[in-house]
Amino acid sequence: MSNTNYKVKNIALAAQGLLKIEWAESRMPVLMKLREEACKTQPLKGMRIAGCLHVTKETAVLVRTLKAAGAELAWSGCNPLSTQDDIAAALASDGVSIFAWHGMNRDEFYWAIERTLDLKPTLTLDDGADLIFTVHSKHKDMAKDIIGGTEETTTGVHRLRAMARDGALFYPVIAINDAETKWDFDNVYGTGQSSIDGIIRATNVLLGGKVFVVAGFGHCGRGCAMRAKGMGARVVVTEVKPTAALKAVLEGYEVMKMDDAAKIGDIFITATGMKDIIVKRHFDSMKDGAIVSNTGHYDCEINLEELKGVSRKMREVRPNNEEYTMPNGNRIYVLAQGRLVNLAAAEGHPSEVMDMSFANQFLGMTRLAREGRSLKPAVYDIDPAQDQEIAMIKLRSIGMSLDKLTPEQVKYADDYSSGT
Ligand code: ADE
Repeated sequence: MSNTNYKVKNIALAAQGLLKIEWAESRMPVLMKLREEACKTQPLKGMRIAGCLHVTKETAVLVRTLKAAGAELAWSGCNPLSTQDDIAAALASDGVSIFAWHGMNRDEFYWAIERTLDLKPTLTLDDGADLIFTVHSKHKDMAKDIIGGTEETTTGVHRLRAMARDGALFYPVIAINDAETKWDFDNVYGTGQSSIDGIIRATNVLLGGKVFVVAGFGHCGRGCAMRAKGMGARVVVTEVKPTAALKAVLEGYEVMKMDDAAKIGDIFITATGMKDIIVKRHFDSMKDGAIVSNTGHYDCEINLEELKGVSRKMREVRPNNEEYTMPNGNRIYVLAQGRLVNLAAAEGHPSEVMDMSFANQFLGMTRLAREGRSLKPAVYDIDPAQDQEIAMIKLRSIGMSLDKLTPEQVKYADDYSSGT
C-alpha cells in the first residue's frame, strides 16, 4: 500500500535512508530482540502512537519496532534542525505518516505536530514534551482518549513533573530519561561523543591544548568534559550547584564563573537545561575566534538575540558555523544556531547507546498499552528490573558475562548479626 500521508524534503532519498537504518539495526541488538518477540505477541495492536522525536536512523529503528508490534504511527521531529531528510524519506516510503524536514521554521514545526495529532493518538511519545504540551494547551478534548505518554529527555521530564505537581497533567507519563540505562549511558557517553563530533564537523579545530568550557556538570556536561579532556583539551566547568561543582573539581577540572571562563575559553558548550547561560556581557569579553555551542534540548542557553543585537556583521563560514563580528573586531563562531550541536551538526548519539534508550521507550509504550488505563495522571519511573534486563541483553550482545552471587553471599548481604 502506498503512503501519501507525509511531508518530507525529498522522497527520492528513501533508498539512502534505508541503508542507514539497516546500519543502525545491526548495532541495536536490544531493540531488535524486543522487535523479534513483539512481531509474535503484537503488544501494541490497536494502539495509535503520535511521536515527536528527532528523526534519525536510530529513531527509525524504534519506529519500525513500534510498527512491528502492531501500532499505527504518525511522527514529527522534535527539533527544527535535527531531522535527517533521508531517514524521513525512508520512513515515509515504509508507510509511516511522517511530517519532518531539516530546517523547518517555527510554524512548520508546530504544523507538523498538529498533523501527527490527526491520527487521534492513544499514546504519545515525546522528546522535549512539545507534543504533550500541544495536547494540553490546544487539544484538551483529545486527552481523555490518550492512555499515556513517554518522555525521553531531562528537561521534558522536569517540566512534566512540575505539571503533575500543579495537577495540570491529564494522563500518565513514563519518565524514560530517568531509567538508569538511559541517563547513565545516553546522557553521558552519547552526549559526550556526539557533541564533540558536532563541534568537530562544524569547525574541524584541534581540541588538544584548547580551553574547553562546559557549562553545567550534569550527566551531559560530564560526558562532554570527559571526552574533551580525552582529546587533550584543558577543561573548565561552570556550575550553580555546589555538589556538581565539587564533582567537577575532584575529576580534575577547573571550576569558575562564566564571567571568568568567557575571557579564557576557546570552545564553549552549554549543557544546563537553563536559559541565558551565555549572554551579551560574556560575548563582549570573549577572545577573537571563540567557538560557542549548545547541547541542551532548547535553544535558549546561548542568548543569540543579544549577540545579533550587538554584533556588526554575520556570515556563514561553514555549514552549521556562523561568524559574528563584534564591535571590537573580535569574531565569535556560533555552531548550529545555538541548537543541539550533536544532532544539528552531526548525527546524534551513536546507535549502540540509543539502543538502550529506545528499548526503554519501547517497553514504556507496551507498559502503557497494558496498564495505562489503570494509572492516574502522574509521572512514573520505569521498573528498575527493566534496567537490569536491558543491561544484561546489551552485555550478552557484546559477549560479556557476569559473576553471580552464591546463596551464602545473598544471605550475608542482609545478615545484620555478623559484625567485623
Ligand atoms: N538524541 C540524541 N541522539 C539521538 C539519536 N541518534 N536519535 C534520536 N534521538 C537522539
